[in-house]
Amino acid sequence: MIVKKPPMGWNSWNTFGHDINEELIREIADVMVRDGYLDAGYEYLVVDDCWQEHERDENGRLVADRKKFPSGMKALADYVHSKGLKFGIYSCAGTLTCEGFPGSFEHEFIDAQTFAEWGVDFLKYDRCYKPLTFDVVTLFRRMGMALANCGRDILFAACSWGADETRKWIKSTGAHMWRATNDIGDSHASIRQLAEKFDRDLKYSSPGSFADLDMLVVGMYGEGNVAFGGCTTAMYKTHFTYWAQLNSPLMIGADIRKIPKEARDILLNREVIAINQDEGCWQPYEIGIPDGWNPKGNPVYVKLLSNGEIAMGIYNFYDEEANLATCLDRMGLCMSTGKTLEIRDVWTGETQYVTNAVLKTKIPPHDCKLYRCKIVDLVYGKMS
Ligand code: GAL
Repeated sequence: MIVKKPPMGWNSWNTFGHDINEELIREIADVMVRDGYLDAGYEYLVVDDCWQEHERDENGRLVADRKKFPSGMKALADYVHSKGLKFGIYSCAGTLTCEGFPGSFEHEFIDAQTFAEWGVDFLKYDRCYKPLTFDVVTLFRRMGMALANCGRDILFAACSWGADETRKWIKSTGAHMWRATNDIGDSHASIRQLAEKFDRDLKYSSPGSFADLDMLVVGMYGEGNVAFGGCTTAMYKTHFTYWAQLNSPLMIGADIRKIPKEARDILLNREVIAINQDEGCWQPYEIGIPDGWNPKGNPVYVKLLSNGEIAMGIYNFYDEEANLATCLDRMGLCMSTGKTLEIRDVWTGETQYVTNAVLKTKIPPHDCKLYRCKIVDLVYGKMS
């Protein structure tokens, strides 16, 4: 199985934690279709930790919690598939999952087979309770082999939290996406911390094996399992834009049954999603070097798109307004090239030209700009 674009979907953990059951998952499936999430590209519906019974059955197979999922996982997968969605589940490389349910350690092949029989399309694979005598790389490789031989296409989503320099070995395991970060919380501090650390992982992210900044908290507004105070809508917009521009998988974590419209509009912004899903998946690079025009070094990322256009994101994670000037020389577009940029703000729809190779922007606290840019001839006299 080859995964060409950052995977998109919904995951139960951020809002629901332990509190999951088959009715909830069916309702989420319905809403993913009804409210346009599937149409926008969110295709995987993933049940995270806490779906299992505490004991395997007499054949050593994992069993779904009989109270929460009385119809069983195969029936749930069938329902999810009937909606045109794909079905995901969670397990762990250790003896137990992070919440203390049976892990897949020394059961990798039988678990992969069980998941295939249930119709699973996506496995999130965690690293809690790893026996000290085994190295983590071998364990992830073993599940990678089991999945690649289970007779069904199952996306392998490794969740090794970026630990042990995950980026350096994870591509040997067959993982199609891999967590580069520790867990996200629904707060601006958490978003900013994950964002700031991610640059070192970006160069290891590519089609086939995408670096994952963790699931989205957009729209949680301080409610749910990983709620740590919540965020404003501007913070969610910045979070989503950053994840999207930097080629991260986009896995929604909010309760989309009752998400406010402004958060839903963020998640469904087609122009931002198109930048995330651009088939080139070229590596974004940072040009926001601190200087007199950008004293705090607010991150400015540039990403070449497959049709020759460019996505430029300017991020203000700080608590004060940013008054910045971004110099196109830093991406090689000096005036000597005879070229400049025509830029479209994908959040407001406004279009302008960059003059004198300098783009001036004022960005409110915690907000951002994302421009889709065309390289055009420099015509003197055109004003921004
Ligand atoms: C963590 C993981 C979270 C969630 C949780 C479930 O290790 O990073 O995303 O899956 O385990 O127990």
